[in-house]
Amino acid sequence: RMDDADLHERIRAAKEALGDRLVVLGHFYQRDEVVQHADFVGDSFQLANAALTRPDAETIVFCGVHFMAETADILARPEQHVILPNLAAGCSMADMADEESVETAWEELERVYADPVTGMGPDADGKVPVLPVTYMNSSAALKAFCGRHGGIVCTSSNAATVLEWAFERAHRVLFFPDQHLGRNTAKALGVPLDRMPMWNPRKPLGGNTEEQLHDAQVLLWHGFCSVHKRFTVAQIEQARAEHPGVKVVVHPECPMPVVDAADAAGSTDLIRKYVAASQPGDVIAIGTEVNLVNRLAAEHPDRTIFCLDPVVCPCSTMYRIHPGYLAWVLDGLLEGEVRNEIVVPDDVARDAKVALERMLAARP
Ligand code: 13P
Ligand code: SF4
Repeated sequence: RMDDADLHERIRAAKEALGDRLVVLGHFYQRDEVVQHADFVGDSFQLANAALTRPDAETIVFCGVHFMAETADILARPEQHVILPNLAAGCSMADMADEESVETAWEELERVYADPVTGMGPDADGKVPVLPVTYMNSSAALKAFCGRHGGIVCTSSNAATVLEWAFERAHRVLFFPDQHLGRNTAKALGVPLDRMPMWNPRKPLGGNTEEQLHDAQVLLWHGFCSVHKRFTVAQIEQARAEHPGVKVVVHPECPMPVVDAADAAGSTDLIRKYVAASQPGDVIAIGTEVNLVNRLAAEHPDRTIFCLDPVVCPCSTMYRIHPGYLAWVLDGLLEGEVRNEIVVPDDVARDAKVALERMLAARP
């Protein structure tokens, strides 16, 4: 087994040999040993854009999770290859909404909502009964579903803009897979909690009455992130008790009471900017994945920065991108072999791109 220094040297040498033919993207949650080799580091929205900014590169190596690499493949030119260094790097939240369950839910909603005259088309107000909105953290198949049904994709950095886009066109939104991002965003836009019922795919009508469904503004899928679900209001209270004046910033995948108790909530890039805008001596408690929190703490040694969750909580699937896999896929490229390629089938990619492009165009 090679020691770490050799491994990093191998990655650097391969990157140099491949030059502009290669671009390496890294999500903020990647470990430092991987981030140091990335040409772009960002949140999932920025990385989707980064995939578009290098149409000249033959290969995009995506150090992140499966849905991010799929998105890059959908947005990239057809000739470009997208590689996920470890194919086992998925996202447990994305797995909580499968295409079949969403299709079934949609059929039920069509039955409940279809107007005898206008069907699922626009009514006298120019609005359709319901539109699907998928969080970026979902399979390409679900993004394609949204593309086919007039819907759109959002990320944690543009969820409010995207929900507003949807409400200009629809009376209701079916939001999947993350209930927390959906609830936090809709609440911030003024949607009352009793008009955001959950959709439980194991129950008829998602566990709701027809009346509740008619009354709904946002139907929330039952998905969640197992990392962000761990953050609690008690942790925030403890941080405030131990560090008077502490500022608390969390990711909107955290449960609503946590977001409400925090001083700010937003995407991984918003969290980074929040820390960058703080002052020397400030104390900042962060509710997100620990690799990002530790990196921010190391970058700002003149501030006290810590993770709200005292038990270290990395995203176990992000962590599956080990520098050893990065070296292995780069070695493959040097030998002319594309290892661990992510290929979204053409028909899925075409429909998914429609929903992604709506998101890119909805940007304020
Ligand atoms: P961001 O879009 O904020 O980077 O979030 C992605 C993610 O998976 C958070 O858990
Ligand atoms: Fe998925 Fe949560 Fe990991 Fe983000 S932190 S990739 S939502 S499991």
